[in-house]
Amino acid sequence: MGDPGGLAMSPDLLAALGAAPPPDPAPDASPGSHWLQVALAERGVSRRRFLGFATAMTALLALPASMTPQIVNALETKKKPTVVWLEFQDCAGNTESMLRSDHPAIADIVLEAISLEYHETIMAGAGKAAEAQLAKIVASGEPYVVIVEGSIPTAENGIYCTIGGKTALQILKEVAGPAALVIAVGACAWDGGFPRLGPTGAVGVGDVIGSKALINLGGCPHNAANTAATLVHYLTFGKAPELDSYNRPLFAYGHLIHDQCERRANFDAGRFVEHWGDEGHRNGWCLYKMGCKGPQATYNCPIVRWNGGTSWPIGAGHGCIACASPRFWERMSPFYDRLPGVKMFGVDVDAQTIGLAAVGFVSVATAVHAGTVVARRARAGRATVAPDGTVIPETPSTPAAPSDGSGTSA
Ligand code: SF4
Ligand code: F3S
Repeated sequence: MGDPGGLAMSPDLLAALGAAPPPDPAPDASPGSHWLQVALAERGVSRRRFLGFATAMTALLALPASMTPQIVNALETKKKPTVVWLEFQDCAGNTESMLRSDHPAIADIVLEAISLEYHETIMAGAGKAAEAQLAKIVASGEPYVVIVEGSIPTAENGIYCTIGGKTALQILKEVAGPAALVIAVGACAWDGGFPRLGPTGAVGVGDVIGSKALINLGGCPHNAANTAATLVHYLTFGKAPELDSYNRPLFAYGHLIHDQCERRANFDAGRFVEHWGDEGHRNGWCLYKMGCKGPQATYNCPIVRWNGGTSWPIGAGHGCIACASPRFWERMSPFYDRLPGVKMFGVDVDAQTIGLAAVGFVSVATAVHAGTVVARRARAGRATVAPDGTVIPETPSTPAAPSDGSGTSA
C-alpha cells in the first residue's frame, strides 16, 4: 500500500463495512506514557488514522457506531495484554497471512505493539532463551492470550511435532491451560485441517483443551482483520464476541458467502462460467458450475477481502472452496465439482440444470438473454437445449486449473 503508517483500512473496505468516516482529526498524539500512544507515534500514525481504524473495527464487529468511543477508550487506556503465538503442524500460512496482510499496522498495533512476546516463527530469540521467555509468561500469573496456528499431532504421544524437546500436545496443554483466552487461527488449529488426513493423528486445539475460553478463527489461512477485531473486542469488553456452535465469531462467520457475493446477480440470472477463460469467466459471471462452494460456506471474506482489501478468491476469478467451513478438505472436495442441489430463485429449480423455463420464471428479459447465450453456445457445439427447455451442458470436462492464476490469496 506504500503507507508506512498503514493503519488505514481502504476507503472501499470502510464503505463495504458501512462504517462512518472517522471523526474530525484532533492534534496528533505525541509520544506519551501509554503504550498505544508510543506505538502510534513510533510508526508515524496520526490520530485521525487511529480513529479510522477504530471505526472500521466497530463496523467489522457489527457493533453500533456509537460504540466506537468505547473501543477508542479501551485501546487508549487498557493495559497492554500479552500475546503468545504457538505454531505447530502446519504450513505457516497464518503467520504469512498476518505478516503480508497489507494492513501492516493491524499486525503492528494489535499484535506486535500489543506485546507479542513469543512467536516461534518470527521472534528474534531462539533456543533456551525463547523457552525461558515462554515459561516466564505462563508462570507470571498475569492474564495472557494464546494464539495457536497449526494442528496438534496426537498419534504415538504426539512425537510427530516436538519443539525444545516437548511435544506440541504438551506445550499446548501447559501454555493454554492458564491463558485468559485461546484463539485458534486457520483450519489446522481449528479442526486438524489437512494434516488430519495424514498419519500423525492431527487434531484441532479444541480437541485437546476443550472449548472453554476458545475462539476458532477458521480459514485457510485465517484473515488477519478478524484476528485484530477479536482482540479489540476482548480488550474493549473483556470477553469474546458472540460465537456460533463452532466457537467462531458470528461477526465473521454468520453469513453465507453466496449472499454477499458480487457475482450473485449472475447466479440469479442464470449466467454461469462454463469453462475457465470463457466469455462468462472474462465477464465475471457466477462460478457455481466451476465448483464454487459459496452457497454452503460462511465467512466475511467478500467484505473484508485480502491483500489490503483489494480482492478475494471469487473476485479474482476462482470459486470458493469453503476454506472456513468445518473439515473442508474432506467435505468440500473435489473442489472443482459442482455442489449438488443448489436451488435458484426460491423455487424448486436446480441451478445445475437451469433451463429457459426457470429463467423465464424470473423475467422475460432474463429468459431472452439466457436463451441467446444458450443458443450461441449450442451453435458453438458447447451446449444443447432439451425439449423441456433444460440446458444440457457440454460433455463434462476434466476440471482444469484456472487460467488466470486466481485464488492464490487465500
Ligand atoms: Fe458467488 Fe459462488 Fe454464489 Fe456464484 S455460486 S454467486 S460465484 S458465491
Ligand atoms: Fe476461503 Fe471461500 Fe473466502 S475459499 S477465503 S471462504 S471465498
